[in-house]
Amino acid sequence: MSVLFTYGARAAEQAVPDAVVRFVGIEELGAGGPAAAPIVQPQIDEAVRGLYARGLFKGETEQTETVSTLGLYPAAHIVFAGIGQEGGATGLRLAAAAAAKALKKLRAGTVQVLLPEQLIRDINGGIGAERAAQALTEGLLLAVHTRQPLKREQKERFSLQEVAFVPQGASAGDQAAWESGIAKGQLYAEGVSFARDLTNLPGNDLTPERLAFHAEELAHELDLEIEVVDEWSAAEQQMGGLLGVGQGSINPPRMIVIHYKGNPNSEETWGLIGKGITFDTGGISLKRAEGMQEMISDMGGAAAVLGAMRIIASAKPAVNVVAVVPTAENMPSDRALKPGDVLRTMSGHTVEVVNTDAEGRLVLADGLTTAITRGATKLVDVATLTGAVMVALGVEATGAVTNNDDLLKQVLGASERSGERIWPLPAYPEYKKLIRSDAADLKNSGGRYAGTITGGLFIGHFAEGLPWVHLDIAGTAFLDSSRGWEPKGATGVMVRTLAELVLHRE
Ligand code: BES
Ligand code: MN
Ligand code: ZN
Repeated sequence: MSVLFTYGARAAEQAVPDAVVRFVGIEELGAGGPAAAPIVQPQIDEAVRGLYARGLFKGETEQTETVSTLGLYPAAHIVFAGIGQEGGATGLRLAAAAAAKALKKLRAGTVQVLLPEQLIRDINGGIGAERAAQALTEGLLLAVHTRQPLKREQKERFSLQEVAFVPQGASAGDQAAWESGIAKGQLYAEGVSFARDLTNLPGNDLTPERLAFHAEELAHELDLEIEVVDEWSAAEQQMGGLLGVGQGSINPPRMIVIHYKGNPNSEETWGLIGKGITFDTGGISLKRAEGMQEMISDMGGAAAVLGAMRIIASAKPAVNVVAVVPTAENMPSDRALKPGDVLRTMSGHTVEVVNTDAEGRLVLADGLTTAITRGATKLVDVATLTGAVMVALGVEATGAVTNNDDLLKQVLGASERSGERIWPLPAYPEYKKLIRSDAADLKNSGGRYAGTITGGLFIGHFAEGLPWVHLDIAGTAFLDSSRGWEPKGATGVMVRTLAELVLHRE
Protein backbone atom coordinates (compact mmCIF):
# COMPACT_ATOMS: atom_id res chain seq x y z
CA MET A 1 0.00 0.00 0.00
CA SER A 2 2.23 2.76 -1.15
CA VAL A 3 0.04 5.62 -2.27
CA LEU A 4 1.76 8.75 -3.51
CA PHE A 5 0.46 11.75 -1.59
CA THR A 6 1.37 15.32 -2.46
CA TYR A 7 0.34 18.73 -1.19
CA GLY A 8 0.31 22.26 -2.55
CA ALA A 9 2.78 23.22 -5.29
CA ARG A 10 3.90 19.61 -5.79
CA ALA A 11 0.27 18.50 -6.04
CA ALA A 12 -0.42 20.99 -8.83
CA GLU A 13 2.05 19.13 -11.07
CA GLN A 14 -0.20 16.06 -11.19
CA ALA A 15 -1.51 15.03 -14.63
CA VAL A 16 -5.29 14.93 -15.21
CA PRO A 17 -6.59 12.68 -12.42
CA ASP A 18 -9.25 9.95 -12.71
CA ALA A 19 -11.46 12.00 -10.40
CA VAL A 20 -11.53 15.16 -8.32
CA VAL A 21 -12.79 15.38 -4.76
CA ARG A 22 -14.10 18.76 -3.68
CA PHE A 23 -14.93 19.19 -0.01
CA VAL A 24 -17.88 21.56 0.34
CA GLY A 25 -19.25 23.47 3.26
CA ILE A 26 -23.00 24.01 3.64
CA GLU A 27 -22.53 27.79 3.41
CA GLU A 28 -21.11 27.44 -0.11
CA LEU A 29 -24.17 25.62 -1.41
CA GLY A 30 -26.99 27.94 -0.30
CA ALA A 31 -28.48 30.88 -2.13
CA GLY A 32 -27.25 33.63 0.19
CA GLY A 33 -23.82 34.68 1.45
CA PRO A 34 -20.79 33.35 -0.41
CA ALA A 35 -23.04 31.15 -2.53
CA ALA A 36 -22.21 33.17 -5.59
CA ALA A 37 -18.51 32.32 -5.25
CA PRO A 38 -17.31 29.72 -7.75
CA ILE A 39 -16.90 26.13 -6.56
CA VAL A 40 -15.38 24.28 -9.55
CA GLN A 41 -17.03 25.36 -12.82
CA PRO A 42 -20.14 27.50 -13.51
CA GLN A 43 -22.46 24.82 -14.98
CA ILE A 44 -21.34 22.14 -12.53
CA ASP A 45 -21.69 24.60 -9.63
CA GLU A 46 -25.23 25.34 -10.77
CA ALA A 47 -26.08 21.65 -10.88
CA VAL A 48 -24.77 20.99 -7.36
CA ARG A 49 -26.49 24.08 -5.94
CA GLY A 50 -29.67 22.86 -7.65
CA LEU A 51 -29.38 19.53 -5.84
CA TYR A 52 -28.89 21.41 -2.59
CA ALA A 53 -31.94 23.60 -3.25
CA ARG A 54 -34.05 20.48 -3.78
CA GLY A 55 -32.73 18.90 -0.60
CA LEU A 56 -31.04 16.06 -2.47
CA PHE A 57 -27.48 16.94 -1.48
CA LYS A 58 -27.23 18.71 1.85
CA GLY A 59 -23.46 18.85 2.20
CA GLU A 60 -23.58 17.05 5.52
CA THR A 61 -20.66 15.04 6.89
CA GLU A 62 -20.38 11.68 5.10
CA GLN A 63 -22.71 12.81 2.26
CA THR A 64 -21.23 12.71 -1.21
CA GLU A 65 -22.56 13.56 -4.65
CA THR A 66 -20.74 12.29 -7.72
CA VAL A 67 -21.11 14.40 -10.86
CA SER A 68 -20.02 13.44 -14.38
CA THR A 69 -18.33 16.46 -15.88
CA LEU A 70 -19.14 15.65 -19.56
CA GLY A 71 -16.19 17.62 -20.88
CA LEU A 72 -16.86 20.70 -18.74
CA TYR A 73 -13.90 19.93 -16.52
CA PRO A 74 -10.56 18.14 -17.11
CA ALA A 75 -11.35 15.13 -14.86
CA ALA A 76 -14.29 12.87 -15.82
CA HIS A 77 -15.88 12.91 -12.36
CA ILE A 78 -16.10 15.23 -9.41
CA VAL A 79 -17.02 13.86 -6.01
CA PHE A 80 -18.54 16.58 -3.84
CA ALA A 81 -18.03 15.59 -0.23
CA GLY A 82 -19.86 17.38 2.55
CA ILE A 83 -17.88 18.58 5.54
CA GLY A 84 -21.04 19.47 7.44
CA GLN A 85 -20.93 20.63 11.03
CA GLU A 86 -19.11 17.64 12.50
CA GLY A 87 -15.77 19.51 12.58
CA GLY A 88 -12.49 18.43 14.17
CA ALA A 89 -10.34 15.50 13.13
CA THR A 90 -13.23 13.04 13.32
CA GLY A 91 -15.34 15.13 10.94
CA LEU A 92 -12.49 15.36 8.43
CA ARG A 93 -11.71 11.64 8.72
CA LEU A 94 -15.38 10.83 8.11
CA ALA A 95 -15.67 13.22 5.15
CA ALA A 96 -12.52 11.78 3.57
CA ALA A 97 -13.77 8.23 4.18
CA ALA A 98 -17.06 8.99 2.42
CA ALA A 99 -15.17 10.53 -0.49
CA ALA A 100 -12.91 7.48 -0.69
CA LYS A 101 -15.90 5.14 -0.92
CA ALA A 102 -17.25 7.22 -3.83
CA LEU A 103 -13.81 7.04 -5.49
CA LYS A 104 -13.77 3.28 -5.07
CA LYS A 105 -17.12 3.06 -6.88
CA LEU A 106 -15.59 5.07 -9.73
CA ARG A 107 -12.46 2.90 -9.60
CA ALA A 108 -10.57 6.19 -9.54
CA GLY A 109 -6.98 5.57 -8.47
CA THR A 110 -5.49 8.98 -9.22
CA VAL A 111 -7.22 11.79 -7.42
CA GLN A 112 -7.03 15.50 -6.84
CA VAL A 113 -8.51 16.67 -3.55
CA LEU A 114 -9.57 20.32 -3.59
CA LEU A 115 -9.48 22.02 -0.21
CA PRO A 116 -11.63 25.18 -0.22
CA GLU A 117 -10.24 28.37 1.28
CA GLN A 118 -12.77 28.37 4.12
CA LEU A 119 -11.84 24.81 5.12
CA ILE A 120 -8.13 25.73 5.21
CA ARG A 121 -9.01 28.74 7.38
CA ASP A 122 -11.05 26.55 9.75
CA ILE A 123 -8.22 24.04 9.96
CA ASN A 124 -5.58 26.69 10.64
CA GLY A 125 -7.76 28.25 13.33
CA GLY A 126 -8.72 24.84 14.76
CA ILE A 127 -6.90 21.49 14.88
CA GLY A 128 -4.02 22.73 12.72
CA ALA A 129 -2.65 21.59 9.38
CA GLU A 130 -0.76 18.53 10.62
CA ARG A 131 -3.70 16.90 12.40
CA ALA A 132 -6.04 17.76 9.53
CA ALA A 133 -3.70 16.22 6.97
CA GLN A 134 -3.35 13.10 9.10
CA ALA A 135 -7.12 12.75 9.54
CA LEU A 136 -7.83 13.21 5.83
CA THR A 137 -5.13 10.72 4.87
CA GLU A 138 -6.38 8.16 7.38
CA GLY A 139 -9.96 8.55 6.20
CA LEU A 140 -9.02 8.07 2.55
CA LEU A 141 -6.82 5.03 3.14
CA LEU A 142 -8.84 3.26 5.81
CA ALA A 143 -12.21 3.48 4.06
CA VAL A 144 -11.01 1.61 0.97
CA HIS A 145 -9.23 -1.12 2.89
CA THR A 146 -11.82 -3.91 2.98
CA ARG A 147 -11.58 -7.66 3.49
CA GLN A 148 -9.96 -9.42 0.56
CA PRO A 149 -11.87 -12.66 -0.14
CA LEU A 150 -9.96 -15.78 -1.18
CA LYS A 151 -11.59 -16.70 -4.49
CA ARG A 152 -10.66 -18.82 -7.47
CA GLU A 153 -10.56 -15.74 -9.69
CA GLN A 154 -8.57 -13.39 -7.51
CA LYS A 155 -9.65 -9.79 -8.19
CA GLU A 156 -7.13 -7.08 -7.53
CA ARG A 157 -7.90 -5.05 -4.45
CA PHE A 158 -8.85 -1.47 -5.24
CA SER A 159 -6.34 0.99 -3.96
CA LEU A 160 -5.66 4.65 -4.40
CA GLN A 161 -2.45 5.35 -6.34
CA GLU A 162 -1.98 9.11 -6.29
CA VAL A 163 -3.66 11.68 -4.08
CA ALA A 164 -2.87 15.36 -4.57
CA PHE A 165 -4.18 17.78 -1.96
CA VAL A 166 -4.70 21.17 -3.58
CA PRO A 167 -5.50 24.09 -1.30
CA GLN A 168 -7.55 26.80 -2.96
CA GLY A 169 -7.18 30.53 -2.45
CA ALA A 170 -4.35 32.47 -0.88
CA SER A 171 -4.22 31.03 2.65
CA ALA A 172 -2.41 27.90 1.50
CA GLY A 173 -0.99 26.97 4.89
CA ASP A 174 2.17 25.25 5.92
CA GLN A 175 3.64 22.77 3.42
CA ALA A 176 5.87 21.04 5.99
CA ALA A 177 2.99 20.53 8.44
CA TRP A 178 0.81 19.05 5.71
CA GLU A 179 3.54 16.70 4.54
CA SER A 180 4.27 15.56 8.06
CA GLY A 181 0.55 14.96 8.75
CA ILE A 182 0.20 13.00 5.52
CA ALA A 183 3.18 10.80 6.47
CA LYS A 184 1.68 10.12 9.91
CA GLY A 185 -1.70 9.32 8.39
CA GLN A 186 -0.06 6.85 6.02
CA LEU A 187 1.87 5.21 8.86
CA TYR A 188 -1.20 4.95 11.09
CA ALA A 189 -3.30 3.55 8.24
CA GLU A 190 -0.63 0.93 7.54
CA GLY A 191 -0.74 -0.21 11.16
CA VAL A 192 -4.53 -0.49 11.03
CA SER A 193 -4.52 -2.31 7.69
CA PHE A 194 -1.98 -4.79 9.01
CA ALA A 195 -4.21 -5.50 12.02
CA ARG A 196 -7.32 -5.87 9.85
CA ASP A 197 -5.68 -8.30 7.43
CA LEU A 198 -4.37 -10.41 10.29
CA THR A 199 -7.77 -10.46 12.00
CA ASN A 200 -9.64 -11.40 8.83
CA LEU A 201 -7.48 -14.50 8.31
CA PRO A 202 -9.51 -17.68 8.82
CA GLY A 203 -8.71 -19.95 11.76
CA ASN A 204 -7.20 -22.66 9.57
CA ASP A 205 -4.67 -20.17 8.25
CA LEU A 206 -3.96 -18.41 11.53
CA THR A 207 -3.04 -20.85 14.29
CA PRO A 208 -1.03 -19.67 17.33
CA GLU A 209 2.18 -20.80 15.62
CA ARG A 210 1.25 -18.86 12.48
CA LEU A 211 0.45 -15.77 14.52
CA ALA A 212 3.89 -16.07 16.11
CA PHE A 213 5.38 -16.36 12.63
CA HIS A 214 3.65 -13.13 11.54
CA ALA A 215 4.93 -11.44 14.71
CA GLU A 216 8.46 -12.64 13.92
CA GLU A 217 8.24 -11.25 10.42
CA LEU A 218 7.06 -7.94 11.81
CA ALA A 219 9.84 -7.85 14.40
CA HIS A 220 12.54 -8.61 11.83
CA GLU A 221 11.19 -6.02 9.45
CA LEU A 222 11.24 -3.40 12.20
CA ASP A 223 14.47 -4.59 13.80
CA LEU A 224 12.83 -5.40 17.13
CA GLU A 225 13.80 -8.05 19.64
CA ILE A 226 11.26 -10.89 19.80
CA GLU A 227 10.81 -13.87 22.06
CA VAL A 228 8.37 -16.65 21.15
CA VAL A 229 7.68 -18.91 24.11
CA ASP A 230 6.62 -22.40 22.94
CA GLU A 231 4.57 -24.91 24.95
CA TRP A 232 7.67 -26.47 26.56
CA SER A 233 9.14 -23.17 27.63
CA ALA A 234 5.67 -22.03 28.76
CA ALA A 235 5.54 -25.11 31.00
CA GLU A 236 8.94 -24.22 32.47
CA GLN A 237 7.68 -20.69 33.13
CA GLN A 238 4.50 -22.13 34.69
CA MET A 239 2.09 -20.38 32.34
CA GLY A 240 -0.84 -22.48 33.52
CA GLY A 241 -3.51 -20.17 32.12
CA LEU A 242 -2.12 -20.15 28.59
CA LEU A 243 -1.38 -23.90 28.63
CA GLY A 244 -4.79 -24.74 30.09
CA VAL A 245 -6.66 -22.93 27.32
CA GLY A 246 -4.35 -24.33 24.63
CA GLN A 247 -4.36 -27.96 25.77
CA GLY A 248 -7.55 -28.92 23.91
CA SER A 249 -6.09 -28.17 20.51
CA ILE A 250 -3.62 -29.95 18.24
CA ASN A 251 -2.24 -26.44 17.53
CA PRO A 252 -0.10 -25.58 20.56
CA PRO A 253 -0.19 -22.16 22.24
CA ARG A 254 2.51 -19.50 22.18
CA MET A 255 3.46 -16.49 24.30
CA ILE A 256 4.81 -13.78 22.00
CA VAL A 257 6.91 -10.98 23.48
CA ILE A 258 8.25 -8.06 21.42
CA HIS A 259 10.56 -5.45 22.88
CA TYR A 260 10.89 -1.85 21.74
CA LYS A 261 13.62 -0.03 23.66
CA GLY A 262 13.51 3.66 22.79
CA ASN A 263 14.80 5.03 26.08
CA PRO A 264 17.35 3.02 28.04
CA ASN A 265 17.52 5.79 30.68
CA SER A 266 13.84 5.54 31.55
CA GLU A 267 12.49 3.37 34.36
CA GLU A 268 9.09 3.30 32.66
CA THR A 269 7.99 0.63 30.20
CA TRP A 270 4.59 0.35 28.59
CA GLY A 271 3.13 -3.15 28.66
CA LEU A 272 0.69 -3.69 25.82
CA ILE A 273 -1.06 -7.05 26.05
CA GLY A 274 -3.39 -8.36 23.33
CA LYS A 275 -5.72 -11.36 23.52
CA GLY A 276 -4.67 -13.77 20.79
CA ILE A 277 -7.28 -16.53 20.66
CA THR A 278 -6.94 -17.55 17.01
CA PHE A 279 -10.31 -19.30 17.19
CA ASP A 280 -12.76 -19.50 20.07
CA THR A 281 -15.18 -22.43 19.92
CA GLY A 282 -15.90 -21.97 23.62
CA GLY A 283 -14.15 -25.26 24.38
CA ILE A 284 -16.16 -27.85 26.38
CA SER A 285 -18.57 -24.99 27.25
CA LEU A 286 -19.21 -24.97 23.50
CA LYS A 287 -20.67 -21.91 21.79
CA ARG A 288 -23.78 -22.25 19.65
CA ALA A 289 -23.19 -22.72 15.93
CA GLU A 290 -24.90 -19.49 14.85
CA GLY A 291 -22.29 -16.81 14.19
CA MET A 292 -19.41 -18.89 15.52
CA GLN A 293 -17.41 -18.11 12.39
CA GLU A 294 -16.92 -14.58 13.73
CA MET A 295 -14.67 -16.04 16.40
CA ILE A 296 -11.81 -15.85 13.87
CA SER A 297 -11.66 -12.28 15.22
CA ASP A 298 -10.90 -13.39 18.79
CA MET A 299 -7.30 -12.33 18.22
CA GLY A 300 -8.36 -8.74 17.43
CA GLY A 301 -6.62 -7.53 20.59
CA ALA A 302 -3.38 -9.20 19.52
CA ALA A 303 -3.71 -7.61 16.09
CA ALA A 304 -4.27 -4.18 17.68
CA VAL A 305 -1.11 -4.51 19.75
CA LEU A 306 0.98 -5.73 16.79
CA GLY A 307 -0.43 -3.01 14.51
CA ALA A 308 0.42 -0.38 17.12
CA MET A 309 3.95 -1.79 17.48
CA ARG A 310 4.40 -1.34 13.74
CA ILE A 311 3.58 2.34 14.07
CA ILE A 312 5.62 2.81 17.24
CA ALA A 313 8.72 1.09 15.89
CA SER A 314 8.61 3.26 12.77
CA ALA A 315 7.95 6.52 14.64
CA LYS A 316 10.78 5.69 17.12
CA PRO A 317 9.63 7.63 20.21
CA ALA A 318 11.96 7.81 23.25
CA VAL A 319 9.95 5.35 25.35
CA ASN A 320 10.08 1.63 26.13
CA VAL A 321 7.37 -0.82 25.17
CA VAL A 322 6.94 -4.51 25.71
CA ALA A 323 4.18 -6.05 23.61
CA VAL A 324 2.80 -9.37 24.81
CA VAL A 325 0.47 -11.66 22.90
CA PRO A 326 -0.71 -14.83 24.62
CA THR A 327 -2.10 -16.92 21.78
CA ALA A 328 -4.02 -20.19 21.81
CA GLU A 329 -6.86 -22.00 20.06
CA ASN A 330 -9.86 -22.74 22.33
CA MET A 331 -11.10 -26.20 21.33
CA PRO A 332 -13.16 -28.98 22.90
CA SER A 333 -11.45 -32.38 22.89
CA ASP A 334 -10.60 -35.36 25.07
CA ARG A 335 -7.74 -33.42 26.54
CA ALA A 336 -9.43 -30.03 26.76
CA LEU A 337 -9.93 -27.98 29.89
CA LYS A 338 -13.15 -28.93 31.73
CA PRO A 339 -15.49 -26.93 33.94
CA GLY A 340 -14.34 -27.47 37.51
CA ASP A 341 -10.66 -27.75 36.60
CA VAL A 342 -8.32 -25.62 38.70
CA LEU A 343 -5.35 -23.94 37.01
CA ARG A 344 -2.24 -22.42 38.55
CA THR A 345 -1.25 -19.29 36.63
CA MET A 346 2.27 -17.98 36.11
CA SER A 347 1.79 -15.57 39.04
CA GLY A 348 0.99 -18.52 41.33
CA HIS A 349 -2.67 -17.51 41.70
CA THR A 350 -5.11 -20.37 41.20
CA VAL A 351 -8.25 -20.22 39.09
CA GLU A 352 -11.34 -22.41 39.11
CA VAL A 353 -12.53 -22.75 35.53
CA VAL A 354 -16.32 -22.64 35.75
CA ASN A 355 -16.76 -21.87 32.04
CA THR A 356 -14.21 -22.84 29.42
CA ASP A 357 -15.63 -20.10 27.17
CA ALA A 358 -14.21 -17.46 29.53
CA GLU A 359 -10.77 -18.30 28.13
CA GLY A 360 -9.49 -14.85 27.24
CA ARG A 361 -8.94 -13.82 30.85
CA LEU A 362 -7.02 -17.06 31.51
CA VAL A 363 -4.45 -16.39 28.80
CA LEU A 364 -4.36 -12.67 29.63
CA ALA A 365 -3.58 -13.42 33.29
CA ASP A 366 -0.31 -15.00 32.13
CA GLY A 367 0.05 -12.22 29.53
CA LEU A 368 0.09 -9.56 32.25
CA THR A 369 2.53 -11.55 34.38
CA THR A 370 4.79 -12.02 31.35
CA ALA A 371 4.72 -8.27 30.65
CA ILE A 372 5.59 -7.54 34.28
CA THR A 373 8.46 -10.06 34.37
CA ARG A 374 9.79 -8.39 31.19
CA GLY A 375 9.83 -4.98 32.87
CA ALA A 376 6.44 -3.39 32.17
CA THR A 377 5.51 -0.68 34.68
CA LYS A 378 2.10 0.31 33.26
CA LEU A 379 -0.29 -2.02 31.53
CA VAL A 380 -2.93 -1.76 28.84
CA ASP A 381 -4.66 -4.93 27.69
CA VAL A 382 -6.88 -5.15 24.62
CA ALA A 383 -9.27 -8.05 24.24
CA THR A 384 -12.41 -9.29 22.53
CA LEU A 385 -13.37 -10.39 26.02
CA THR A 386 -17.14 -10.38 26.56
CA GLY A 387 -20.42 -10.49 24.69
CA ALA A 388 -21.69 -8.44 27.63
CA VAL A 389 -19.87 -5.33 26.42
CA MET A 390 -22.29 -5.32 23.46
CA VAL A 391 -25.26 -5.55 25.80
CA ALA A 392 -23.93 -2.45 27.57
CA LEU A 393 -22.55 -0.35 24.71
CA GLY A 394 -23.64 -1.98 21.46
CA VAL A 395 -21.02 -1.69 18.78
CA GLU A 396 -20.58 2.06 19.32
CA ALA A 397 -17.78 2.01 21.86
CA THR A 398 -15.00 -0.05 23.38
CA GLY A 399 -15.53 -0.67 27.11
CA ALA A 400 -12.84 0.19 29.65
CA VAL A 401 -12.07 -1.03 33.18
CA THR A 402 -9.17 0.36 35.21
CA ASN A 403 -7.45 0.52 38.59
CA ASN A 404 -5.88 3.89 37.84
CA ASP A 405 -7.71 7.07 36.81
CA ASP A 406 -4.56 8.87 35.64
CA LEU A 407 -3.71 6.13 33.17
CA LEU A 408 -7.35 5.93 32.09
CA LYS A 409 -7.28 9.66 31.40
CA GLN A 410 -4.28 9.21 29.13
CA VAL A 411 -6.03 6.38 27.29
CA LEU A 412 -9.20 8.46 26.89
CA GLY A 413 -7.16 11.38 25.57
CA ALA A 414 -5.55 9.12 22.96
CA SER A 415 -8.95 7.69 22.04
CA GLU A 416 -10.37 11.17 21.48
CA ARG A 417 -7.49 12.11 19.20
CA SER A 418 -7.86 8.90 17.19
CA GLY A 419 -11.65 9.08 16.99
CA GLU A 420 -12.02 5.59 18.49
CA ARG A 421 -14.65 5.76 21.22
CA ILE A 422 -13.98 4.29 24.66
CA TRP A 423 -16.48 4.27 27.53
CA PRO A 424 -15.29 3.53 31.08
CA LEU A 425 -17.28 1.18 33.33
CA PRO A 426 -17.15 1.30 37.13
CA ALA A 427 -14.82 -1.04 39.00
CA TYR A 428 -16.33 -0.93 42.51
CA PRO A 429 -14.67 -3.47 44.83
CA GLU A 430 -18.05 -5.16 45.38
CA TYR A 431 -17.96 -6.54 41.84
CA LYS A 432 -14.96 -8.65 42.74
CA LYS A 433 -17.12 -10.75 45.07
CA LEU A 434 -18.75 -12.20 41.97
CA ILE A 435 -15.53 -13.97 40.98
CA ARG A 436 -14.65 -15.42 44.38
CA SER A 437 -14.27 -19.18 44.35
CA ASP A 438 -14.60 -21.96 46.93
CA ALA A 439 -11.96 -23.96 45.10
CA ALA A 440 -9.28 -21.42 44.19
CA ASP A 441 -8.21 -17.76 44.46
CA LEU A 442 -10.66 -16.77 41.72
CA LYS A 443 -13.18 -18.30 39.35
CA ASN A 444 -13.13 -17.34 35.70
CA SER A 445 -16.77 -16.30 35.36
CA GLY A 446 -18.98 -14.22 37.60
CA GLY A 447 -22.19 -15.08 35.77
CA ARG A 448 -24.44 -12.81 33.76
CA TYR A 449 -24.43 -9.65 35.88
CA ALA A 450 -21.77 -7.02 35.11
CA GLY A 451 -19.99 -9.48 32.83
CA THR A 452 -17.64 -6.94 31.26
CA ILE A 453 -16.63 -5.55 34.63
CA THR A 454 -15.99 -8.91 36.30
CA GLY A 455 -14.06 -10.02 33.20
CA GLY A 456 -11.95 -6.89 33.46
CA LEU A 457 -11.43 -7.20 37.20
CA PHE A 458 -10.31 -10.79 36.80
CA ILE A 459 -7.52 -9.57 34.51
CA GLY A 460 -6.75 -6.63 36.81
CA HIS A 461 -6.11 -9.12 39.63
CA PHE A 462 -2.87 -9.99 37.80
CA ALA A 463 -1.64 -6.37 37.46
CA GLU A 464 0.24 -6.61 40.80
CA GLY A 465 -1.00 -3.12 41.70
CA LEU A 466 0.61 -1.50 38.64
CA PRO A 467 -1.46 1.10 36.75
CA TRP A 468 -3.65 -0.87 34.36
CA VAL A 469 -6.41 -0.26 31.82
CA HIS A 470 -8.43 -3.02 30.17
CA LEU A 471 -10.10 -2.39 26.81
CA ASP A 472 -12.93 -4.74 25.80
CA ILE A 473 -13.24 -4.60 22.00
CA ALA A 474 -15.71 -7.51 21.59
CA GLY A 475 -18.23 -5.09 20.05
CA THR A 476 -15.87 -2.95 18.00
CA ALA A 477 -13.24 -5.30 16.53
CA PHE A 478 -15.40 -7.00 13.91
CA LEU A 479 -18.49 -5.42 12.32
CA ASP A 480 -21.55 -6.79 10.50
CA SER A 481 -21.65 -3.74 8.24
CA SER A 482 -19.28 -0.94 7.30
CA ARG A 483 -19.45 2.55 8.78
CA GLY A 484 -17.33 5.69 8.45
CA TRP A 485 -13.73 4.64 7.88
CA GLU A 486 -14.38 1.10 9.16
CA PRO A 487 -15.22 -1.77 6.78
CA LYS A 488 -17.40 -4.81 7.37
CA GLY A 489 -15.34 -7.47 9.17
CA ALA A 490 -12.15 -6.61 11.02
CA THR A 491 -11.76 -2.93 11.95
CA GLY A 492 -8.28 -2.80 13.46
CA VAL A 493 -9.82 -0.81 16.29
CA MET A 494 -7.44 0.46 19.02
CA VAL A 495 -4.35 0.33 16.79
CA ARG A 496 -4.34 4.11 16.43
CA THR A 497 -5.39 4.72 20.05
CA LEU A 498 -2.53 2.59 21.39
CA ALA A 499 -0.04 4.24 19.05
CA GLU A 500 -1.33 7.68 20.02
CA LEU A 501 -1.07 6.75 23.70
CA VAL A 502 2.54 5.61 23.47
CA LEU A 503 3.64 8.39 21.11
CA HIS A 504 1.97 10.76 23.59
CA ARG A 505 1.17 13.70 21.36
CA GLU A 506 -1.05 16.36 22.91
N1 BES B 1 -14.49 -14.23 22.63
C1 BES B 1 -15.62 -14.24 23.49
C2 BES B 1 -16.30 -12.87 23.57
C3 BES B 1 -16.95 -12.37 22.32
C4 BES B 1 -18.30 -12.53 22.10
C5 BES B 1 -16.20 -11.66 21.38
C6 BES B 1 -18.88 -12.04 20.93
C7 BES B 1 -16.78 -11.17 20.22
C8 BES B 1 -18.11 -11.36 20.01
C9 BES B 1 -15.19 -14.65 24.90
O1 BES B 1 -14.15 -15.55 24.97
C10 BES B 1 -16.36 -15.27 25.56
O2 BES B 1 -16.78 -16.30 25.11
N2 BES B 1 -16.85 -14.65 26.61
C11 BES B 1 -17.94 -15.18 27.37
C12 BES B 1 -17.65 -14.96 28.83
C13 BES B 1 -18.59 -15.66 29.75
C14 BES B 1 -18.52 -17.15 29.57
C15 BES B 1 -18.24 -15.27 31.17
C16 BES B 1 -19.20 -14.44 26.95
O3 BES B 1 -19.14 -13.25 26.68
O4 BES B 1 -20.24 -15.09 26.86
MN1 MN C 1 -14.80 -17.55 24.83
ZN1 ZN D 1 -12.83 -15.53 23.39
